[in-house]
Amino acid sequence: MENETNKLLEEAMQEVENAKSKQELFNVNTNFLGKNGKFSALMKKLKDVLPENRAKIGAILNNAREKIDTAIRTFIKKFEKQELEEKIKNEKVDVTIPVKPYPMGVKHPITETQELLMDFFVKKGFTVRTGTDIETDYYCFEALNVPKNHPARDAQDTFYINDEIVLRTHTSATQIHTMEKFKPPIKMVSTGAAYRVDEIDGRHSPFFHQLEILVVDKNVSMADMKGTLEEIGKFLFGEKTKIRLRPSYFPFTEPSAEADATCPKCGGKGNGCSLCQQTGWIEILGCGMVNPKILENHGINTNEFGGFAVGIGLERLAMLRYGISDMRELFENNVEFLKQFK
Ligand code: DAH
Repeated sequence: MENETNKLLEEAMQEVENAKSKQELFNVNTNFLGKNGKFSALMKKLKDVLPENRAKIGAILNNAREKIDTAIRTFIKKFEKQELEEKIKNEKVDVTIPVKPYPMGVKHPITETQELLMDFFVKKGFTVRTGTDIETDYYCFEALNVPKNHPARDAQDTFYINDEIVLRTHTSATQIHTMEKFKPPIKMVSTGAAYRVDEIDGRHSPFFHQLEILVVDKNVSMADMKGTLEEIGKFLFGEKTKIRLRPSYFPFTEPSAEADATCPKCGGKGNGCSLCQQTGWIEILGCGMVNPKILENHGINTNEFGGFAVGIGLERLAMLRYGISDMRELFENNVEFLKQFK
């Protein structure tokens, strides 16, 4: 029986080695080690062996079975590894295959306008400051020379969370934060949302966006401000654009002005132009020389330093740039409308 076992072992090992697939190995397993396999048949003969030899033969048999079992497992693993390698090879990603076009979103016209202008100022060496939509009355009004009960608060009436906390009515609040934190020379630009108690119509919204500029340095004059505004005008509406200043009033600037640009549609001619209502000019921003009182409140010596500030309404600019006639379109999030700005 010992010889028979060894023969069977040899036969099984040969078959294991010759197997060409996992399936063939499973077959070897069934044929030799299965319930009706060749080893089971041999086991059955054990009862005919002399009792004193049974243990020895039994051990030989088991030993052989184990060897075959180990060999089968080892070869199965080998096939599995090969299969995996094959799979990895076949699934290799070819990065040179062009991808399927994926529908891309577009930037909102306001975001686009913000980024365009912020880039313009960053390239000129301005520092970007961020502000918060929720402000204290102090930063929004008091520190900008608009005390409580000042009539200028009327035109800028906003939403009060309580007596002291408001939704900022303009980005000018960032001017104060900046002057608190930095000493001149200051060249900062900031943009974000602002809020005002305004009825919604084609030209007004209680939620809108502004961009604020503050420059404080030695020898800053109104000519510097006008030069900056002219550059903005040319950048936005083309080289031929001219800027005019009209006297205005803001408590935080002295003197104050509103700036108009020559109408981008009629080039300043006016006749028959619907965009500028035949005036040839379009109002684009508020500006002025920073009120010396505000500079002094922040420890800035006004014999040495002066400054100018500018506040630009971005909805208006975006509407001019993209030919949008109704401001409400900018806030209704109508995908069909927004898709146009690809
Ligand atoms: N904050 C003003 C507004 O919302 C706009 C403005 C005017 C900003 C003059 C300025 C400025 O920085 O100097 O109406």
